[in-house]
Amino acid sequence: MASTKPIQCIVAVARNGVIGSAGRLPWHIPEDLEWFMKQTEGGVMIEGPACYAELGKALPGRGTVVVSRDPAKRFPGAERTSTLEEAVQVAQGMPWPGPVWITGGERIYAEGLPLCSRLLITRIHRDFEGDRRFPPDWQRHFTRLVSREHGVHEGLEYDFEVWDR
Ligand SMILES: NC(=O)c1ccc[n+]([C@@H]2O[C@H](COP(=O)([O-])OP(=O)(O)OC[C@H]3O[C@@H](n4cnc5c(N)ncnc54)[C@H](OP(=O)(O)O)[C@@H]3O)[C@@H](O)[C@H]2O)c1
Repeated sequence: MASTKPIQCIVAVARNGVIGSAGRLPWHIPEDLEWFMKQTEGGVMIEGPACYAELGKALPGRGTVVVSRDPAKRFPGAERTSTLEEAVQVAQGMPWPGPVWITGGERIYAEGLPLCSRLLITRIHRDFEGDRRFPPDWQRHFTRLVSREHGVHEGLEYDFEVWDR
């Protein structure tokens, strides 16, 4: 039987908790996209249909499971399930050796965060307008800071932080 992969969450969050605006990221930080691509490579991403639409495809070099209850939607290159629980089961069975990654959006984060042993959070030190948010109480559950790396892109400061429970 295949061994169980760790379940981890990766997100970028503005100071006011915003993660998205009108189906897009409200900021442009290429270093954060690179960080996301590097961390999730070789694992399996679990995401919602709006995230899949934003990326426009299943990203290469990793598995993708899309959680959707709408049978009319199609997600080429990805597995699909109708619940997050089932998505985790499918991800665990895929041949990618890396972790299972909870990659959003809002509801997937809210439902998936309790399953995660580790959180990779890019904390952006500015407020942004938006319509999607990360669970505000995440720090009650993730109490051990493993690492922090500071960065700046065109004056916009951020930290890559890794937290364990
Ligand atoms: N900052 C970040 O790190 C980050 C990361 C990811 C996304 N985002 C942002 O977040 C936004 C997209 O996320 P979103 O919250 O709008 O959408 P989403 O999670 O991609 O998709 C929402 C849809 O997912 C399906 N769904 C969600 N939870 C489900 C569940 N438990 N069971 C079954 N289906 C479920 C439903 O679609 P059906 O109607 O098909 O069932 C729901 O309408 C964008 O603005 C994006 O830029 C930001």
